[in-house]
Amino acid sequence: MLLTRDEMAFDFKGAKFDRVRDRDLLAWIASQFLYGEVTGVQVGHWIRRAPDVESARFLARQCVEELQHVDVFKEFFRWLDARPVPVHPVVKMLSGESSNWEEHVALEMAQGEGFVLMIFYALLATLDDEKMVKRLEAAVRQEEGHVEFGEEQTQRLIARDPRARKRLLGLHLLSLWAIRRFEKWIRKRVDMSHAVMRLMPDYLKRILEVTELRLMRVGILDKPLAQMGRMAKFGAIVRALVGRFGRKLAFWRWFNRKTDLTNTYMADPYLADVMALKAGNPWKLQG
Ligand SMILES: [Fe+2]
Ligand SMILES: [Fe+2]
Repeated sequence: MLLTRDEMAFDFKGAKFDRVRDRDLLAWIASQFLYGEVTGVQVGHWIRRAPDVESARFLARQCVEELQHVDVFKEFFRWLDARPVPVHPVVKMLSGESSNWEEHVALEMAQGEGFVLMIFYALLATLDDEKMVKRLEAAVRQEEGHVEFGEEQTQRLIARDPRARKRLLGLHLLSLWAIRRFEKWIRKRVDMSHAVMRLMPDYLKRILEVTELRLMRVGILDKPLAQMGRMAKFGAIVRALVGRFGRKLAFWRWFNRKTDLTNTYMADPYLADVMALKAGNPWKLQG
């Protein structure tokens, strides 16, 4: 990867979640993951756009790995004795369908799976159960491979077509904006006096810093965001959106197709045992 684990790490200062006391909160966090992993299984269809055999082989392996991650989170829910709850709209938006290969590798893999990886690291640091941490660690190593593939492919395509950088920049900025909104939403709904949750603002700041560093190293940003004016950022987002919709008017149909399929899988008998677990009380974390 272009960033080391140390560069992506955040110091939670020994703060831990408690399996029983924090059951509702952990169920909510794991639900976002489960949805992402179930959506991740659909990566298989990108094999039709893979530019070479090496990429095709990678995608075939990744598809199996994402299915394994679904199993990891099923185990997590059993350990927690809580069932999955509805996911946040931002998570649905970030799991949406990419319209082409460059968006898939740069946005979904390098950036999107990069976010997921940082939250995985946070879970490893804050869960107080050695066995569960070990189980997650195996998934984390696979996610690192997915991010690395996304970074390499993005660098390759920017080297081939430098204009791709500008096309991608606006979409990256849009997802950073969505994450900032997400932080505000969390602050309003979660007990911020909790030992882990009170570090959340600093942690999200760290996620944004790490993402910016990745965008610089991968070659999508040519200068730090602080040196980019508001209008330049806004312009980049508008250009990216206009370009995207112009290129593929059927985008929303695609977007819905992917999330519809995720909902179908979530209702599959395969997930029935975790859906039947004891219900938590997640009302304050929904919507
Ligand atoms: Fe995954
Ligand atoms: Fe992944």
